[in-house]
Amino acid sequence: MTGLPILPILLAVHILSVILWIGGLAFVTTVVLPVLARLPVAQRIPAFLEIERRFGLQARVLVLVVGASGGYMLARLRLAGLMASVHGLWLDGMIAFWALFTLLLFVLEPAVLHRHVRERGARAGEATRLMLLRGHAVLLVLALIVVAAAVLGAQGVG
Ligand code: HEM
Repeated sequence: MTGLPILPILLAVHILSVILWIGGLAFVTTVVLPVLARLPVAQRIPAFLEIERRFGLQARVLVLVVGASGGYMLARLRLAGLMASVHGLWLDGMIAFWALFTLLLFVLEPAVLHRHVRERGARAGEATRLMLLRGHAVLLVLALIVVAAAVLGAQGVG
C-alpha cells in the first residue's frame, strides 16, 4: 500500500491558502477601499477598521498555514540550497513577502499601525483612506509578482 501523497497535498494546501489570502487583499484593495469614498468622511476609517478586523484574523491564520506548508516542502524537497543561487530567487521572494506580512500582521499592526490609522482617520478620514489604498495596492502588486515568479520558478524558468 502506498502512503499519503503528502507533498502534493501540502502544495494544494499552500496554494489554497495563498488564493484566500491574496484574494482577500485584492478585494480590500480594489473594492472595499474605493467604495468607502461613498460614505461620509467620519465613517470611512471606522468602517475600514471593522472590515479589516475580520479579514485580519483570517489573514493571520492563512499566513501561518502558508509558512508551515511552505517550510515543510522546502525541507522535504531539499530546496534550501537553491535559495543562495539566482535560480532560487523565486523562493527568496516568497519567503521575503511572507516575512513582510508576518511582521505587518503580528507585530506592526497590533503595536502601532491600528492606533495610528484610527487616530489619523479621526482627523483626516479621506487622506487616511488614500494612504491605505496606496499601501494595499503596493502589497497587492508585490503579491502578484511573487505568485507569478513562484509558478515560473517551479517550472524551471529563470
Ligand atoms: C515561508 C514562506 C514560504 C515558503 C518556505 C514557501 C515554499 C514553497 C515551496 C517549497 C514550494 C514548492 C515548490 C515546488 O513545487 O518545487 C512553494 C510553491 C508555491 N508557493 Fe510558496 N512558500 C512560501 C510563501 C509563499 C507566498 C507568500 C506565496 C505567494 C504570495 C507563495 C506562492 C507559492 C506558489 C504560487 C507556489 C506554486 C508554484 C508551482 O508549483 O507552480 N508561497 N512554496
